[in-house]
Amino acid sequence: KISNLDCEIKTNAKNFVFYDGIFNSDIMIIGEAPGYEEDKLGKPFVGTAGKKLDEMINSIGLDRKNNVYITNIIPWRPPNNRTPTDKEIDFFLPYVEKHISIINPKILLLFGNVASKSILNLKEGITKNHGKWFNYKNPFLKKNIFTTCIFHPSYLLRSPNKKKIAWEDLKKVKEKIINLKVTI
Ligand code: URA
Repeated sequence: KISNLDCEIKTNAKNFVFYDGIFNSDIMIIGEAPGYEEDKLGKPFVGTAGKKLDEMINSIGLDRKNNVYITNIIPWRPPNNRTPTDKEIDFFLPYVEKHISIINPKILLLFGNVASKSILNLKEGITKNHGKWFNYKNPFLKKNIFTTCIFHPSYLLRSPNKKKIAWEDLKKVKEKIINLKVTI
């Protein structure tokens, strides 16, 4: 059932932005919401933030053409790229949970505060929780998924002094890939 609240973002958007990457990948990435370029092309993370995201994941051997699956919490671009409201996030959360269970990754990477807080139901934001590992479970999943939070590429573009922290967190992802013997 489509409620009034998602109609606002739906009617303002050109495209339903669903996913990019490899369907049977063991690594899934979740961002926040499409921006201008994503809305135009119908694919997540294809604008400036997307280039930065590619740079980040490429540095640890991940790449959307080979071994990751990418989606967002919100499938329609919020007007003027505003942050999604709590109501919008709550509305889409069950769909994202189902989406995660369909892809059924071994490792889940949450980029930015919106994805981190909503998926993991965190009280505190990404500043406190980046780089930690969580044992994520939702009602659609049969088993837990190793999940971690990483600074959003847009945040790193605005605050380049945080790049070192993001790099440390990405190295932990690489270690996890090796320890779990995840094929990439
Ligand atoms: N930022 C996001 O969180 N997702 C996108 O798809 C693009 C920018």
